[in-house]
Order: sequence, then structure tokens, then C-alpha cells
Amino acid sequence: MCGIVGYIGHRDAYPIIINGLKRLEYRGYDSAGIALYDGTQIELAKTKGKVVDLEQRANGSISKKGTLGIGHTRWATHGVPNDANSHPHYSNSGELVIIHNGIIENYSSIKKELINRGYTFHSDTDTEVLVNLIEEIKKKESVKLGKAVQIALNQVVGAYAIAVFDKNKPNEIVVAKLGSPLAIGVGEDEFFIASDASPFIEFTNNAIYLEDEEMAIIRRGKDIKIRKIKNDKVVKPFVQELQLNIEQIEKGGYDHFMLKEIYEQPSVIKDTYRGRLLVDQGIIKLGGLEEYIPKFINADRIIIIACGTSWHAGLVAEYTFEDWARIPVEVEYASEFRYRNPVITEKDVVIAISQSGETADTLAAIKLAKKKGAFVYGICNVVGSTISRETHSGTYTHAGPEIGVASTKAFTTQITVLTMIALKLAHVKGTISKSDYMMHLHELDMIPTHVAAALKSNDKIKEIAKVFKDATNFLYLGRGYNFPVALEGALKLKEISYIHAEGYPAAEMKHGPIALIDEQMPVVVIAINSNHYGKVVSNIEEIKARKGKIIAVVTEGDTVVRELADYVMEVPKTPETLTPLVTTIPLQLLSYHIAVMLDRNVDQPRNLAKSVTVE
Ligand code: M6R
Repeated sequence: MCGIVGYIGHRDAYPIIINGLKRLEYRGYDSAGIALYDGTQIELAKTKGKVVDLEQRANGSISKKGTLGIGHTRWATHGVPNDANSHPHYSNSGELVIIHNGIIENYSSIKKELINRGYTFHSDTDTEVLVNLIEEIKKKESVKLGKAVQIALNQVVGAYAIAVFDKNKPNEIVVAKLGSPLAIGVGEDEFFIASDASPFIEFTNNAIYLEDEEMAIIRRGKDIKIRKIKNDKVVKPFVQELQLNIEQIEKGGYDHFMLKEIYEQPSVIKDTYRGRLLVDQGIIKLGGLEEYIPKFINADRIIIIACGTSWHAGLVAEYTFEDWARIPVEVEYASEFRYRNPVITEKDVVIAISQSGETADTLAAIKLAKKKGAFVYGICNVVGSTISRETHSGTYTHAGPEIGVASTKAFTTQITVLTMIALKLAHVKGTISKSDYMMHLHELDMIPTHVAAALKSNDKIKEIAKVFKDATNFLYLGRGYNFPVALEGALKLKEISYIHAEGYPAAEMKHGPIALIDEQMPVVVIAINSNHYGKVVSNIEEIKARKGKIIAVVTEGDTVVRELADYVMEVPKTPETLTPLVTTIPLQLLSYHIAVMLDRNVDQPRNLAKSVTVE
């Protein structure tokens, strides 16, 4: 989704904004733009394409002067990706300039009114309507920029993070937020504005995260005034100290962020359970959970809401929660749940899972569940994100920034947190034996070592990728705990290689997908030692009989599947309940290598956004 960056202070704004936009590239975008103001002249450059294209455009066309500026990466919603629809947008007078992440839903009726009053439009965007609405209010009501922004935002319906400045106010930027993220970096006599803290982390560790329906007037060399958009109430700025560092958001020698993040998994899984999984004492300690354990244990059911990869992590948890804690679980796509008038009561516990903590559908589903009286627990990666603030309590995954659009370490760390919660509840409830509980604590502590071992197959997986890179379809099969892994494997391949892939429960194959199998069809089968091993072997035989090509994920030392499969990718032995944490590794690597061989944009695949902040 769109990214926004702004600066007001004593340095040249151009390099800060360009580098900031590059840091936000992971969000997904199709055009980029920048506006600078040196107190005399506003300069604007924008283009369809990437930030490097913007730099080229800026090179010939603007002087790049100014210590105030705003920049934007656009992910098209209203209007195709082209130069005109790129942000920033001028108002008709040329005095106001705006950038916007979000959607103004009632823009077309406002646009009609503005056209009746003589306004003209140069783009198809809702954002150009907003900046002209602000201009109209400013003129008609004779108010300053901040007041005009506030009045305008009370008239619009939708979501936004905006930054806007006025030619007549060279020392001021006005920002506002509803539904899209907005962070303000607070430096020495300088301020930074961004969709997240990564664009300004080398300048300051202090940040203010605006809440929904808040706006701020940021004045050069002065402090920040924050107000509620609806009722004008003054809000005291809360400055947080960030834990982020520059190394975490750089590639560190890897060709892609995705590969770096795949390789980070042994250490980040450890970070996720550090201080929480106390094996020697036989304790799992999750700060956000302790006081709510009775709520979970006495719940009629647990409803898990999420999207994409996070939804797959939720599916894995359905198995562990039901298996160990004997609490009924439903796993819902947030986007369906929010529009289905679901039956929810105060006796339900809702778990919302989100890497970014900003996914619009998940956020709306949380609000609905809260309205209906459910207790909502969040599992997020991004600290301070909207979902982490909107839920009653929760646990952070501590995976560190995930920049690659395709989720990897977010998935395994989400499963780690969910596994700890399920074990804890089962232990307190007495539905797991002491020995089984202790065995799982020990085995969970071994997972980083097992993941590191699974990563050692990288070269072999690269060879397998070479063989299958030109396939046009893939089928992924898994059973039980590894059915969600099959879905996740297929999603990874689709996202970054653009090859069609489907994930299926292995036993369902004969109810339809078997018709697709011929010698052209690679079938990735998760065939590890488990309760279903024999049945999965039978599925493999069925595929072989139809000349399908088998790539199997097997447990180290396996002999039976090795004989049958065309290729095998080994993972270390671990209890079946924990296998998703290791079986997912070769599937991530397989997708990665195929995408690289096909010359795809691995970290920023086409049409995708890292955090989906619109419906
Ligand atoms: O930030 P979230 O976990 O809420 O994001 C949910 C999905 O948009 C996300 O998992 C998406 O499917 C990823 N690109 C998957 O790799």
C-alpha cells in the first residue's frame, strides 16, 4: 500500500525523503513523487514507476532545494498508475500540496460539488479531491490550514494518513490519520513523518504514533500540536523510544530481504520464545496472557481471524488448540467474517493475527468482535501497530522488521507464539499430560536448531528449482498439521514467481485435483513421519500412477518416500505438532529460487503490498 514520508527541519529534505521512500518500497507501489519547498518556490516531481525512476525524473527537472518536503509511493486504487495520478497533488491555486495513503470513499459527490464551484481536476484520484476540498474550506471559511484540514476530514468518509503543506506557511506541515499508519519522528529541531519508523531511524529513536482520528500541526523548530479531528480536544504527545536499528532494515549481504528473512528464522524464533519459554522450570510465561487465562479456558470457542499467511498460521493453531487445550476453534478470513453478521457472544475469545498490525480487514473484524462483546487478543509483529493497540491484550512475535512482501519469518514466529499459548492453556486446564507438556517445551526449544539444519538443504533445493522453474502449475499437498503448510507453500510460490499453485489436503486430491495430474504437473507433498504417513504414501502412489512429478518433504532418514519421489527435501525429526515450523522452510526456499531464476522482483512482487491497509 502507499507509503508517505515527510521532513521539516534544517537539513536538505530531498535525500531524506528519497531514502525514506526506498525504505518503504516493501509496502508495494507503482509510482512515486516528491514535493519540496524552500520558502520561495514549491518544486514537484512525480512519475509512474519506482523510486529510481523518480530520482531520474528529479535530476533533470528540479533543483532539489528545500528543508521542507513530502514524498509518496502510490499503490493505485482510484485511477491507473500514471504520472498524473501519482502523488503529491496540488490544489487548484497551487498553494496546497498533499500526499495521502488510504481511500476517500465519498470523493465522487465532493468532486461534483467542487466542479460546480469551478474547480478543475488533473487526475482521477480521490486525493486531488481532498486537497481541493481543504482549499475550498480554507477560502470560504477564512481559516488557517490546520482548521481547514480538520473541517474537511469531518466531511469525508474513508481512511487516510495525509501530510499537507501550504505555500503561505513555509514552517508548517499538517498531518492526520484514520485507518492508515502514521509515525512522527522527533529530532533536535526537526521532525520526520512516515508510514513507519524505518525512513527516519538513523536520525532519531523518538517517535509519536498518531491514533486514529488525530491530526497534528508540526512547526519547524517548535513542538507538535495534536488534536482530535472530531471534537478538537487537545492530546498530549506521547513520545516512544524505538527499539529498531538500521541493520535490521538492511539486507546484510543477502541478495534479497526475503532470503535474509528466511535465514533469520533460527534466531528470530528464539527471540520469540526468549524469556517466555522457561524449559528448566517447566514454565511458559506470556505477559499479555496471564491474567486472561480464565477467559480462554472458559470460552465457548476461540475464533481466529486473519488474512493471507497469518490465516495459515491460524489454521495450524486450530490443530494445537483443539488437540491440547480441547477448546473448539474456528479460523476465519477477516474479510469474510466482518461482512457475515457472525454469531459472537461475550463467551467467545477472538485471536487476531497480523504481521503488520495494520491489515484493514483484520482491523475491521476486531472492531466488530469487540462491539459484540468478545474479548480480543492480538498477535502482531509490528510494535505499536494499530491492531496491537486496538486489541484488549496480546503477544508480540518479536520477529524484527519483515521487509520482503512474502511473509516468511512472520509465519514461523506466529506459529511459535500460538504453540506457546496452546501449551500454556492445556497445561493450566490439565488437558495435556505433564510428560507431553514437558516434552513439547524441550522440543520447541530445539526448533531453532532444526530450522538451521533444514536451511542446509538450500543448494539441493536450488537444483530442484532449476528443474521445475518453467512449470506453469504446481499442486501442494499436506495432511493434518501440514495441510496449512501446503496452503502456505502454494501461496509463497504464487506470490513471488507468478506460477499458479494450489494447496490441498492430501486426502481431498481424489475429489477433484487428481484430474489435473499428468507428466507436466509437479506435486509438492509434505510426507514427514506422522500419523498420516501411510496415507500420504498412498497419495504419492496415486500421483505416480498418473505420471505426476513428486517433490517430497521428508523426515531425515526416510527411505520409503525417497524410493517413490522424484526429489526429496529433508527436515529434521520433531513431534508432529511442531512440524509446520520446519516443513515450511524448504517450501520457502523452493519458491525463492524459482522466483529468482525467473527474474521476478522477489521482495516487491507485482500488484502486492506488504500491509493491505485498504479493503
Ligand atoms: O500483516 P498481515 O499479517 O495482517 O498481512 C496479511 C496478509 O496480507 C499477508 O500475510 C500476505 O498474504 C503476505 N503477502 C503473504 O506472504
